[in-house]
Amino acid sequence: MDRLIINGGVRLSGEIRIAGAKNSALPILAATLLTDDLVTVCNLPHLYDITTMLELLGCMGVQPVIDEKLNVEVDSSTIAHFSAPYELVKTMRASILVLGPLLTHHGCAEVALPGGCAIGSRPVNLHISALEAMGAKIIVEDGYIKASVEGRLTGNQIFMDMVTVTGTENVMMAATLAKGKTVIENAAREPEVVDLASCLIEMGAKITGQGTDTITIEGVERLHGCKYSVMPDRIETGTYLIAAAATRGNIKVKDTRPDILDSVLSKLEQAGAKIKVGPDWIALDMHGERPKSVSLRTAPYPAFPTDMQAQFTALNCIAEGTGAITETVFENRFMHVHEMNRMGASIKVEGNTVIVEGVEALFGAPVMATDLRASASLIIAGLVSEHETSVDRIYHIDRGYECIEEKLQLLGARIRRVPA
Ligand code: UD1
Repeated sequence: MDRLIINGGVRLSGEIRIAGAKNSALPILAATLLTDDLVTVCNLPHLYDITTMLELLGCMGVQPVIDEKLNVEVDSSTIAHFSAPYELVKTMRASILVLGPLLTHHGCAEVALPGGCAIGSRPVNLHISALEAMGAKIIVEDGYIKASVEGRLTGNQIFMDMVTVTGTENVMMAATLAKGKTVIENAAREPEVVDLASCLIEMGAKITGQGTDTITIEGVERLHGCKYSVMPDRIETGTYLIAAAATRGNIKVKDTRPDILDSVLSKLEQAGAKIKVGPDWIALDMHGERPKSVSLRTAPYPAFPTDMQAQFTALNCIAEGTGAITETVFENRFMHVHEMNRMGASIKVEGNTVIVEGVEALFGAPVMATDLRASASLIIAGLVSEHETSVDRIYHIDRGYECIEEKLQLLGARIRRVPA
């Protein structure tokens, strides 16, 4: 297994470009199953999860064509199987996103039941109950969700008991081809849901209210092809900004969207960063100062994203003062804490809150990545450590960060990949 070796202590400085958003690209690729026409998806990030989604389309008989700029053409008219096998679902839970499109367009779907993962049990009961409310017959058998519908799904009033991002996306996609009107209440407001809705609208869907907690979809008979460019990745953006703040650096991230990062930018300002934004860039300068601790609480958008709390924990490790980070979205998202304590951090876990007392310096150690965002936080910890840090199990990071060591090298970091 590849490892990343980091020699910390360098203040990050320079400019990098942000990739397309993983969490937007995945549902948009699933949405290509809603039409028999050609859909071209541009600005795809170069990530393992994207490869997995393309492989999933491939094993259904759809052959995506990729060009050198990572634009993908998908013609799903050749689809021959309506199943997402366990081998792929177990590596990427977002495979569940093909359930709604397959069911509404082809009347049947079989998707392996995603299991729990390092950050919690992560059930998909809300996806299932919403599709049942739209007329789907669903049984869970032999580890698979087996769904079918006679004729078309029927629009309905769907109240989501919890705010779920992929749940909202699955139901929104299913509703585009359903008979009549679907109203999703307590819908996720994440920018990636809005990006998917924009793509679906380009394909001929009738959707309003995306970006609010009530999304209305008027079903249409068919959707058509389109060309759509995926929005920038706000989590990748935030991760590099936090890394720069933790190292007392000065960087500019380009091809991004400051307007969807309010909660993160305000925490960075509290940490002492001077921030400037333009229409598609963000510049952060710590003026060489040590960051100040911040306290935060994760919650669905527009509140602070759970996908960014581990990175702020890393920043708090070496900040001035004590910060409390409360996780309300996932039950077990503190696996990185034990690794950081091994690097000399002073972190206590109290229920769903971590209390981080900032120390002057961390010390490099061999550490193990446990999930995608935890691995990013361990890299940040390595960047602010004295001596060498080696991060093992970095396949987690390759799922969600494009060329992370190359981008960090561009910012001056001493980081290299050591193949197994
Ligand atoms: C998506 C993101 C992930 C992010 C998360 C929360 C993608 C591909 N992934 O994951 O990066 O961390 O949103 O912002 O977009 N829940 C249920 N029943 C369900 C569905 C969800 O109880 O049927 C619970 C989950 O266990 C969790 C909470 O709802 O506690 C939110 O999860 P959800 O928004 O569904 O996460 P994902 O869509 O899987």
